[in-house]
Amino acid sequence: MKFTVVTILPELIEPALTAGVVGRAREAGVISVTTVNPRDFTSDRHRTVDDTPYGGGPGMVMKPEPLLAAIGAAAGAPPAHRVLLSPAGARLTQGRVRELAKLPHLVLVCGRYEGIDERVIELAIDEELSLGDYVLSGGELGALVVIDACARLVPGVLGEPASADEESHSAGLLEYPHYTRPAKLVAPAPPPAMPGETRELDVPPVLQSGNHAAIAAWRRQQSLARTAARRPDLFAKHRPTKADAKLLPPHVADRTHLALVHHPVFDRTGKIVTTSLTNFDIHDLARSSMTYGLAAYHLVTPVTSQREKAEHIAKLWLDETDLPRKPPASGSRAGALARVRTADSIETVIAELTAEYGTAPLVVATSARAESFPGVPRRTPEELVAEAAVRPEPLLVLLGTGWGLADHLIPSVSRLLAPIEGRSDWNHLSVRSAGAILLDRLFGRAP
Ligand SMILES: C[S@@+](CC[C@H](N)C(=O)[O-])C[C@H]1O[C@@H](n2cnc3c(N)ncnc32)[C@H](O)[C@@H]1O
Repeated sequence: MKFTVVTILPELIEPALTAGVVGRAREAGVISVTTVNPRDFTSDRHRTVDDTPYGGGPGMVMKPEPLLAAIGAAAGAPPAHRVLLSPAGARLTQGRVRELAKLPHLVLVCGRYEGIDERVIELAIDEELSLGDYVLSGGELGALVVIDACARLVPGVLGEPASADEESHSAGLLEYPHYTRPAKLVAPAPPPAMPGETRELDVPPVLQSGNHAAIAAWRRQQSLARTAARRPDLFAKHRPTKADAKLLPPHVADRTHLALVHHPVFDRTGKIVTTSLTNFDIHDLARSSMTYGLAAYHLVTPVTSQREKAEHIAKLWLDETDLPRKPPASGSRAGALARVRTADSIETVIAELTAEYGTAPLVVATSARAESFPGVPRRTPEELVAEAAVRPEPLLVLLGTGWGLADHLIPSVSRLLAPIEGRSDWNHLSVRSAGAILLDRLFGRAP
């Protein structure tokens, strides 16, 4: 594979490519890297490649003519794929690297100063790539990153081709941890240990077992758990296989309980009231709870007749599927209504879950008002799921009816989900809509 780097600082490129995997690949002739300098395409005495920006402002901009000529010379005809390294480009991913590594020739254009004249991008750039959301002083480090990441995927560069398949990001997951000898490492303990104190760390026994199936399962489990904890964004896109599901701790959704609270809630004047149950709330949130795989949906009201009404409505649907002869089909509304439970108070739900799981739930409130539950830590849905994934407790998510949960009367709340915001200042969603949106943000899969 051939790389041509268009840069006014070729001296930054060459020394970085002489050692390691890329150095050996160049020596073996598997890849080649050359540079083209836009200064060689200038006609003035100072070999000028920059000029002041139209419209004013700080810094200089790379002039179009020498850059266009340099890119043309680098790309040949028909032109090879031309990439501009730019903080405004699409973020470089392993998936994109895999595709680029299949090309025979890649031209990497490095900006300097404030960047390059926009018309060069229109005329002579096929793709803009960014290393990340920060600004470097030039594109050369980016070009080296692209060369390194692509080169190691070119056949014949890595000693063992499988090593690129198992790495972080190759299958949308982070890689498992590695260990080498010694099996028992005794090393100075990290601060705040006393001087001279040591710590002994062992290699996980499964890796020393020689059982290849057990090792593969352990590695996969580590890879899944790491991704869930460190990169919830990647994990949300990952579709676990059946084998993965067995290796993962139960999904947070499996131990999440939704509670629709009818007391204590505020009315429009700020008074504490008990609201009435509605048929819609029972059905719609039961169906949302089922769709997102929740453990149960609790209707909380101190009014006995209201609880009986809820149980009656849920049971009507259950009866329709000929229970007890066959359990409700997973896609049926009866399946959803089977998740409905009733309780006279939030405290009762907490006591039930504590008995069921052997540990008290993490109680999460929701509110349309950002100032509700003062002092309670705020979480985005992504942060909450990432936190809950590495904690043992079940989650109890409280939805308020009326004018919202009476925050000062619910001391068990230890997290608050940030209010849902739309594009207007008004965010008075029905509790059914708010519940569905929050569940999708918590547990919805990326398409
Ligand atoms: C100082 S930067 C210009 C930044 C530009 N004024 C902006 O705010 O987008 C100079 C050059 O460094 C390179 N560069 C800077 N940050 C980068 C990043 N995150 N990824 C890829 N290239 C980058 C680009 O080639 C860019 O033209």
